[in-house]
Amino acid sequence: MSLETVVILAAGEGTRMKSSTPKVLHPISGRSLVGHVLHAVDALAPKHVCVVVGAGREQVEAHLSEVAPHVTTVFQEKRGGTGHATQLALDGLKATGTILVLAGDTPMLTGTSLAQLLEQHHAGGFTASVLTAEHPDPTGYGRIIRGDDDSLLRIVEERDADEVQRDILEVNSGVYAFDAIKLAGAIGKLKNDNSQGELYLTDVIEILRNEGGKIAAVLIDDFIEILGVNDRVQLAESAALLRDRINEDLMRAGVTIVDPLSTWVDATATVANDVVLMPGTAISGTTTVATGAVIGPRTTLVDCTVGAGARVIESRASEAIIGDGANVGPYTFLRPGTKLLPNSKVGAYVEMKNATLGEGSKVPHLSYVGDAVIGEGSNIGAATIFVNYDGVEKHYTVVGDHVRIGSDSMLVAPVTIGDGAYTAAGSVITEDVPPGAIGVGRAKQRNVIGWVLRKRPGTKSAEAASRHSTDEQKG
Ligand code: UD1
Ligand code: CA
Repeated sequence: MSLETVVILAAGEGTRMKSSTPKVLHPISGRSLVGHVLHAVDALAPKHVCVVVGAGREQVEAHLSEVAPHVTTVFQEKRGGTGHATQLALDGLKATGTILVLAGDTPMLTGTSLAQLLEQHHAGGFTASVLTAEHPDPTGYGRIIRGDDDSLLRIVEERDADEVQRDILEVNSGVYAFDAIKLAGAIGKLKNDNSQGELYLTDVIEILRNEGGKIAAVLIDDFIEILGVNDRVQLAESAALLRDRINEDLMRAGVTIVDPLSTWVDATATVANDVVLMPGTAISGTTTVATGAVIGPRTTLVDCTVGAGARVIESRASEAIIGDGANVGPYTFLRPGTKLLPNSKVGAYVEMKNATLGEGSKVPHLSYVGDAVIGEGSNIGAATIFVNYDGVEKHYTVVGDHVRIGSDSMLVAPVTIGDGAYTAAGSVITEDVPPGAIGVGRAKQRNVIGWVLRKRPGTKSAEAASRHSTDEQKG
């Protein structure tokens, strides 16, 4: 049976987050809270998804149009409760068939559990089905009140519950499947005679039951799935649990994770089998890591592509392409537009930006390479700087194949170093170097003989120098 409509409630202020960012936009594992919910919902292929927005409306709508352009939104101007929010959505939707209602702050939900809820809802011909779980610490959740025959009578919010009810461990996940038309009929009957003076969607269960509707509570095994995020403590808890879930999936798929507690792979990233993730590593955004690569320790990759067998050690890279068998690090900073062709090497204390490094080429030590293309088999000597910025504009440098750039060269862009050319160490290269030439751009050395004895008498240097004859000092 197909799913017609999904309503996601995301208009609350998230007061307990104490944040200028709307609660549902707080990110964990590479997606916003509502982004995780949308992802779980996507697995059901619903015909229509509607998000109720309110607090931080502009921010939430901007985010939704980026991550889920197919959804529509309904505006809840004032917080009137989950029942009020659902009512507003229903008013606009005129939904029929089955409607799934859930909250935007439950990021651990999986499509599998949502599908299970729907399946049981349809199989039993229920009017309403609530997803529930037994939580070892149910504080803050609505409690599931079952009758003697085990059927669901109603849901009682923590604030409105008596002591006996508070001891109930089975809690409301905030996920419900309804017969849309019956829900629309019942929702107008909600009353705000509760501790918060709000219309609670949870109360619709009792209303539907009293009208003779068939009500189900679908209890799932894993309470982790239904965790809601209301404050930063719960945000961190959910983040850690999601990290563990992702890491477990990866390890079962053949990824070695040396220290799962310090390894953070976003839900949006892809890591192939036989990759090794060393401690303190974050694989973020749309990063993909191909088989056999070794990442870390202490490495962060954001929106990168890493080729097979590449190694990235103690480094940070964003929007970079790291080719098969390339070597990066330690202490390397790769900025957007960096492209390392296969088997190239970028070593310690090197920064690169908007630059391509050819196959087998090396920038081994202490360099800045910006706005450049370097051919294959070239070596960039230690402490070379690609001088790309004249204070106003950026300029481009071209380095050919099998070039040897001497240590401490300044390549002042725009400039081209031809195939097979050299530059002398310490050169400031302001003009093109033709293929096969050596560019020498530095003053000729002169030695001022006896200078230390004359100018720095009595120093340790002078004492050391004086052990040599005058002839020797001349060299
Ligand atoms: C709600 C449930 C509770 C359940 C818990 C599961 C009610 C009354 N209570 O409590 O039984 O155990 O979720 O996590 O439904 N929202 C709106 N408009 C509003 C109020 C809320 O859109 O006027 C949205 C919020 O943005 C949030 C969701 O509805 O995404 C739930 O609201 P929240 O205040 O977090 O409810 P809980 O107290 O967690
Ligand atoms: Ca909540």
